[in-house]
Amino acid sequence: MMNRLGKHSEARVQPPLNTIPLAEAVADQPYTVSPMGYGLGCDNPKNLVQIQNLTVQYHGRIILKEVSIDIQEGCITALIGPSGCGKTTFLSCLNRLVDLIPGSAVRGKITIDGLDLRDPKIDLMALRRRVGMVFQRPNPFPLSVFRNLEMPLREHGVKDKKEIARRVEQALRDVGLWDEVKDQLGKSAMALSGGQQQRLCIARALILEPAILLMDEPCSALDPLSSAIVEDLIMSLRSRYTVLIVTHNLAQARRIANYVAFFWVRESAGTLVEFGHCQQIFEQPVHMLTGDYIRGRRG
Ligand SMILES: Nc1ncnc2c1ncn2[C@@H]1O[C@H](COP(=O)(O)OP(=O)(O)O)[C@@H](O)[C@H]1O
Ligand SMILES: [Mg+2]
Repeated sequence: MMNRLGKHSEARVQPPLNTIPLAEAVADQPYTVSPMGYGLGCDNPKNLVQIQNLTVQYHGRIILKEVSIDIQEGCITALIGPSGCGKTTFLSCLNRLVDLIPGSAVRGKITIDGLDLRDPKIDLMALRRRVGMVFQRPNPFPLSVFRNLEMPLREHGVKDKKEIARRVEQALRDVGLWDEVKDQLGKSAMALSGGQQQRLCIARALILEPAILLMDEPCSALDPLSSAIVEDLIMSLRSRYTVLIVTHNLAQARRIANYVAFFWVRESAGTLVEFGHCQQIFEQPVHMLTGDYIRGRRG
């Protein structure tokens, strides 16, 4: 096959899809962690989170099976894959929200900066301050804009009014909302637009100065314009925060991620198929299934 430069490209020859039963197609290649030799990395990659053989069950049913992955500090890692493959479950293990799901059982090891997350003595409040989360639907508290940001600070022991005002302003500036709301801090957060509400929720997560920000499809409930604003915001967080983002929007993953993890359901359990640099996953996926998914042939 000739590419635009007139050179032979190295497109992989694949048998027609409809001749390969899925089970066979995935069974002939082991699930691998691919080499990290391609694409743009972070400025100073440093392994911040280590996940080893993470398995999650709900009421005895395996939801996520033996996922091992390293997360690099200051980078954006996108989690992609079809609905039901355990992406939300994976995120919820990283701040132990999974513990709140009745019937959940977690095996494997997760460490953040050497701290064993499943240590029974761990301070969950401190953990959730270090690992913030933003959900699919903006979920501001039905309170004023100011109170939405003041509340988490007070819960975590910040009492000084000047300090609170300074950090509220800083968090709103960080998400580009300050100029839009500075004259209406007493206004109900519920009166903001969807995109503004989501940026407020991101500010609420950032105000506690977490090391890690988990984002579960943060743009999927937003209109395209708001989505673009939130996407720019996420990119601006790179290097200051370690971001894990679930997105169904592959073009978005491609635009913003340093690393991509592709999940798939195999024998009814979510599995990590491939992990690597963004450019490598999109341009030279190791696993055939990854290639099929990112080209829209499966999933
Ligand atoms: N609270 C729960 N109790 C039982 N099963 C659940 C619960 N939440 C999710 N599941 C199941 O776990 C699987 C993975 O779900 P989820 O992590 O939400 O996947 P994703 O985010 O990739 O769509 C799905 O089959 C889902 O039905
Ligand atoms: Mg989900």
